[in-house]
Amino acid sequence: MCGIVGYSGSGSPKQVILEGLKTLEYRGYDSAGVAILDGNHFKRVRAEGKLNILQEKLNQENFSGKIGIGHTRWATHGKPSERNAHPHCVKGISIVHNGIIENYADLREELKASGSEFHSDTDSELVAHLISAEVDLGHCLFESVLKILPKLEGAFSILAVSADQPDEMVAFKNGPPLIIGQANDAIIVASDVQAIIKHTKEVIYLNDFEVAHLKGSDFKLFDREGKVVAKKFVHIDWSPEQVEKQGYPHYMLKEIFEQPRAVASAIDPHIDLNEHKVFLNRLGFGRSVEELDKLDLAQDYQNTVQQLKKVERIFIVACGTSYYAGMVGKYVIEKLSRIPVEVDIASEFRYRDIVIPENSMFITISQSGETADTLAALRMVKAMRVPSLSICNVKRSTIDREADGHMYMNAGAEIGVASTKAFVCTLSLLNLLALSLAKAKETIDEASEQKWVRELLSSPSQMETVLAYDKFFAKASDTLKKYRGFLYMGRGVNYPIALEGALKLKELAYMHAEGYASGEMKHGPLALIDESMCIVMLAPSDDLYEKTVSNLEEAKARGGEVISIGSGENQKLRDVSKHYLSLPNASWFVNPILEVIPLQLLAYHVADALGHDVDQPRNLAKSVTVE
Ligand code: AGP
Repeated sequence: MCGIVGYSGSGSPKQVILEGLKTLEYRGYDSAGVAILDGNHFKRVRAEGKLNILQEKLNQENFSGKIGIGHTRWATHGKPSERNAHPHCVKGISIVHNGIIENYADLREELKASGSEFHSDTDSELVAHLISAEVDLGHCLFESVLKILPKLEGAFSILAVSADQPDEMVAFKNGPPLIIGQANDAIIVASDVQAIIKHTKEVIYLNDFEVAHLKGSDFKLFDREGKVVAKKFVHIDWSPEQVEKQGYPHYMLKEIFEQPRAVASAIDPHIDLNEHKVFLNRLGFGRSVEELDKLDLAQDYQNTVQQLKKVERIFIVACGTSYYAGMVGKYVIEKLSRIPVEVDIASEFRYRDIVIPENSMFITISQSGETADTLAALRMVKAMRVPSLSICNVKRSTIDREADGHMYMNAGAEIGVASTKAFVCTLSLLNLLALSLAKAKETIDEASEQKWVRELLSSPSQMETVLAYDKFFAKASDTLKKYRGFLYMGRGVNYPIALEGALKLKELAYMHAEGYASGEMKHGPLALIDESMCIVMLAPSDDLYEKTVSNLEEAKARGGEVISIGSGENQKLRDVSKHYLSLPNASWFVNPILEVIPLQLLAYHVADALGHDVDQPRNLAKSVTVE
């Protein structure tokens, strides 16, 4: 949720921390702060609001030291304000925290009873108090962290510094990610590799309850008992350019335009381009993520086929946009492989008395790989010994690490809070998974496998043509922003895309928008329709097309303004719609990947026309690591 950066080295901590926080601002942006060594104390500068406000404050500050910590916040306890911004300091101890300390109320009361005075409303501040109390007893910073670690319950990643040991920093975590990068003359610790890759691509991921003791430009890792832990560096293959805007006004628009390339990267490892067949490579069932690169591909493929053959039922669990991708997956998997699929919202799944029959497979979908509810659902089914497969964008994220099998979106860094390219990559992976399940169950023959693979291979270039609607929506947005609300409708595999279109508009334009299965309209939502309502109808050519057109006529008859999206030239749809957008001819298998693009562009341009912050919509965060 929040972003953390720590720096120790020969460069300027202020500059490295600010640059790092900038790359992490998508994680939280209601306040920010730094504590940087200056002389024999850590000077703290904090500001409410976005990072540029802190940056302005820091322009007037100079620091003589070579070590510091920084934080960009997404509030969970205590409203956004300078008082609640991190770092939190108690005597010589300064800390930054990402996550939630669940037993904070009890700990705070205990600390208050023994005389501690609190200066914020956060759960985080108590960590500084706890460490400070141990330091008062004569322990060094590192020993103090080991002492307080067992007291903390909940999700946390924390960086701590002490004025008494001004060349040291201690990092520890349980839950949210914390990554250490070692450059020639510096150490950088951050919540995400994006803050590190400018300096080094060799990083170490801290595991839960590991403690990193950093001194100067060196460090050692320990377990919670204080025993040394040996770990190897991991190479990150994201380039710094991948996380810049590359001339687009917003990350989101850049990411929308990257989608064709992203889908190509997602499917590439799994397709034999000579034979047009699907091979799910490196799923590595039962192998740790560290072992994936070294797998014997043929052997691993056979292992995957054996796993898929056993599957008699599938549970897909995710949140938000990833959940809608899962809904599309249900339609595709059931149609091709005849395996029943249940799709659940993770926050519901984890709290219901779930019944999972023998030979089930559990699939999580998560762009970030850190979503708290999805992770909790995964842990729940793991305890029930159900085999799990993660579809994830961030390699070595917690969900990726904990699942038995691994598929990667390969979308590259997604910075815009609204998910776009991760969604289409997931759809393409679910298509490949459905084909693989169908092969394993022998419900499709070789010719149809090749037909579907060819369709999928055509989708990136078809997506390129759909992106041309950018200009249409840039122009139409001034009219569209005046509607009272939007109803998105579709049937079958297009229905989850209607839900996704509505979610995009809600989160970006803050407008009322709903997605409906068009067959449901006459059961209530038709009453909403008048000329102030915009109807977005997904009506591509598939076996439900005629029924969809009837639903469109019904809505149109009630006065709604219609934008329809169909396949190829279609005079019928053009006649009943205010705007008709034609997609390249494709089948139900690929249509969802194509038709979501105009919906993303609609939401983007309407939000932009309303003057909203498209990349960082209000009240949201990219990575939802708390319930
Ligand atoms: C997408 O636009 C949203 N910001 C949100 O619904 C997101 O998809 C959801 O929080 C799940 O995130 P995940 O894929 O990282 O698990």
